[in-house]
Amino acid sequence: MSERHLLVLDAGTTSTRAMLYAPDGARIATAQADLTQYYPQPGWVEQDAAEIWTHTLACARQMVDRAGGADRIAAIGIANQRETVVAWHRRTGDPIGRAIVWQDRRTADHCAALRAQGHEALVQQRTGLVIDPYFSATKMRWMINHRPEVAAAGHGLALGTIESWLVWKLTGGLHISDASNASRTQLMALDGTGWDAELCALFGVPGAALPEIVDNAGDFGATLPDWLGGPIRVCGLAGDQQAATIGQGCLAAGAVKATLGTGAFVLAPVGAVVPASANRLLGTVLCQMDGRRHYALEGSIFVAGSLIQWLRDRIGLIAAAVDTDAIARSVPDNGGVFLLPALSGLGAPHWRPEATGVISGLTHGTGKAHIVRAALESMAHQVHDLAAAFAADGAPWRTLRIDGGMSANDWIAQDMADMLDLTVERPADVETTARGAAMLAGVGAGLFPSLEAAAGIASAATPFTPLMSAQVRAQRLAGWRAVLAQAE
Ligand code: G3P
Repeated sequence: MSERHLLVLDAGTTSTRAMLYAPDGARIATAQADLTQYYPQPGWVEQDAAEIWTHTLACARQMVDRAGGADRIAAIGIANQRETVVAWHRRTGDPIGRAIVWQDRRTADHCAALRAQGHEALVQQRTGLVIDPYFSATKMRWMINHRPEVAAAGHGLALGTIESWLVWKLTGGLHISDASNASRTQLMALDGTGWDAELCALFGVPGAALPEIVDNAGDFGATLPDWLGGPIRVCGLAGDQQAATIGQGCLAAGAVKATLGTGAFVLAPVGAVVPASANRLLGTVLCQMDGRRHYALEGSIFVAGSLIQWLRDRIGLIAAAVDTDAIARSVPDNGGVFLLPALSGLGAPHWRPEATGVISGLTHGTGKAHIVRAALESMAHQVHDLAAAFAADGAPWRTLRIDGGMSANDWIAQDMADMLDLTVERPADVETTARGAAMLAGVGAGLFPSLEAAAGIASAATPFTPLMSAQVRAQRLAGWRAVLAQAE
């Protein structure tokens, strides 16, 4: 490996982090800053793109100092929350209004109208995505329709997802997006090269405002010297879920990972053939290397860690996320309580943007621990629904590799193995998103010939094997289906 370090910028939904990887591939330092979340109306979720940038820069500076200066860093790799849209002025680089976050449901009516007009089959066949407010295209159109400054910007308007925004700021005006992020906009055909003119027209997004689509690894440009005390090459870009898939070493068909972060996202690589789901899963670009695309089948769950955050910050039911493991174990079962965590509607395989959350089965005997346990159980219930959809699509899981912050919770990992009736494996290093971005940056900087070479020796994994009886599993699933039906 190189004598120099790799710097990863992981711009997630709840926080921005910078991580420094040593020449031997070990992560040696992390800086983190939480992001302010704005909820101006029910179903709306916004962030301040300027804050994303300043937090990212501040974290990156800490890591550059730690490395001993910009010349000690071989390359930057960026991983980011996907689908979130930023509009900015090309002339000043200033954002126009707040970013609209992937969780935001404000375009549900626009999506319903497009579906009613019969557009879903074509959109799904071309982009691999169902029509849902989750994706970027209708958010971009909303900005043009509702923010006069966006509409008035004309040719001076730039639109992009978060990696695109950060690269623009870091380099002082390079406007690019990698193929994995571009595949989440609903404006790029999975097997096409640039933006799809027909889809841009359908969603009402001007192609001229969009970035150039590039590979996930390559020498994309250098940071302005003033930002980090010298120029550093940007050599890796990927949506965080694709980065986590790569970081888990899930590079070939047959592997499958679930990242339990703000949401929970299951991706299974399928190789060079464009995937087509008949069961409401998504086809997406895993990565594009040397112009060649590799694809994945994805199931997107919108609410995972954000449910625990909600229990802590909004409801005050728990003091800290780490307490949930012990609270869940403090009761023998859920006491008949089931929780549907539809705080941002429901994603795959249900796709119901209008659904709201439900807690059912409350009695005088219900205590705090039952509700917390029901919240944790909802993770496995949601992943179970995805497993069924993958199997129905002819891609059954043999094992499931989990990662992300919430995977550190042993109770959740065991419950997932129990409900899936499958061995669940958790690597020693659950920061797979950053690892994947470091691998891409390493390949892009020429330190490794391929992702396979960059993957090196996989870290030892802890297996969780199923222990639950079929009867208990069936009871749990019956309760889950009942609470799902209540969201109708
Ligand atoms: O598609 C949304 C996803 O990229 C968000 O990831 O890590 O913030 O849950 P995360």
